Amino acid sequence: MKKILALVGTNANFSYNRLLLKFMKKHFKQMADIEIYEISKLPAFSVDVPLEEQTEVWKLKQKVKAADGVIFSTPEYDHGIPAALKSAVEWLSYHTTVLKKKPVMVVGVSYGRQASARSQVQMRQILISPDCDANLMPGNEVLIGGATHVFSKDGRLVDTEMRDNLEECFTHFIEYIQIFENVDEEEVKMPIKQPRISEAYIKFPTGRLSLKEVQQIFSTIPFEIDLIDSSDRFAWYSDKPNREHVRDVASLNEPVTECHPPKAVPAVMAIINSFRDGKRDVVTRPLWMNGHRSLIQYYALRDVDGHYLGTIEFTGSVEYILSLFEKGAWDKGADASTGASKHEDAAEAEDNETADASTGASESSDDNEETTADASEPAGIEETDADTGASESGSVDADDEAADATTGASEEE
Ligand SMILES: Cc1cc2nc3c(=O)[nH]c(=O)nc-3n(C[C@H](O)[C@H](O)[C@H](O)COP(=O)(O)O)c2cc1C
Repeated sequence: MKKILALVGTNANFSYNRLLLKFMKKHFKQMADIEIYEISKLPAFSVDVPLEEQTEVWKLKQKVKAADGVIFSTPEYDHGIPAALKSAVEWLSYHTTVLKKKPVMVVGVSYGRQASARSQVQMRQILISPDCDANLMPGNEVLIGGATHVFSKDGRLVDTEMRDNLEECFTHFIEYIQIFENVDEEEVKMPIKQPRISEAYIKFPTGRLSLKEVQQIFSTIPFEIDLIDSSDRFAWYSDKPNREHVRDVASLNEPVTECHPPKAVPAVMAIINSFRDGKRDVVTRPLWMNGHRSLIQYYALRDVDGHYLGTIEFTGSVEYILSLFEKGAWDKGADASTGASKHEDAAEAEDNETADASTGASESSDDNEETTADASEPAGIEETDADTGASESGSVDADDEAADATTGASEEE
């Protein structure tokens, strides 16, 4: 079932356009799940509205992102669209790409015989502007004039000609959405399932890997990785089952400020900017996620000359490591590679040195202990969120949950 977001194009308490959308929600309930959105919740657009006052704008953008298609129902004010509707579209096009390639449909009701034709033309013109760049369904005009006569008292569109036209146009809209979905699915699935150049090899200074191996390494290692690139866009995430943070390819390339609740943005940017400025290299954040203890670690990604390339976020459950620790796997006398105690394996330990699982090379147990200690405690890792201003109690998130610095997904603390 398609998810449609329908914007009431006015902030008036009573509106025939709202009535039309309510009728559509009921009438097409077998074909689509239509959510009606009231633009009266939004502040008037201004480039100067502080970020912390944009929570409702952020919520609307999330709804647009999640919708398969968007309907704009516009009244006609002075042969154009109402100022409140224009303001809403400005929020949806300023520093955001949520409307880009989004299938959109325009409908409208007005008193006059022209039936909001002129405001709909204007609305269509706005929606195809470069900053909106929506996939506007061409043709298929839903022009409902004489608003006071065409609805019944209980809000049904009773003019049969208008209703037939509405049914035809809405059916076309659902088909129109499907066309784009088919195109997108192929584009999207390909890079997720299979690297594009599957036979290529990447030569690292330390060995070569095929793209397929790289892909599978990322989906096998027991933590997930996300990358915010140097221009602060969400550039990549590792694909693996049961991710702690569920990611969507639709969010790729979004500015990092865009994919967060506004209240979380200052904390997120504090981490990123401290990496960019070279003030820090790592921020570590232990927290509860999805019912288990997890660790999020942000690292500054730099090239060999130290230039900032982006921020990577590692997220993983630490339950297994903690259970090993609790069972005494690192206690004095334990075998570093298996966790078995020296006492139990005394006979073997005398003959065999600890084996390196990947090469078969062996080191003395003294060396091995040192290696283990180094690997478990990278330098500088003790820094916590407290330094960044990000709240560990979750108050940075608009909805009182802790913010995820990569995309704004949140977890339970
Ligand atoms: C400021 C203003 C300007 C209007 N201009 C037009 C107009 O140019 N053409 C028209 O058909 N109706 C016009 N109307 C009447 C609207 O079509 C009518 O109020 C309609 O119900 C608005 O849609 P709504 O009920 O969804 O708010 C205007 C109404 C207002 C308040």
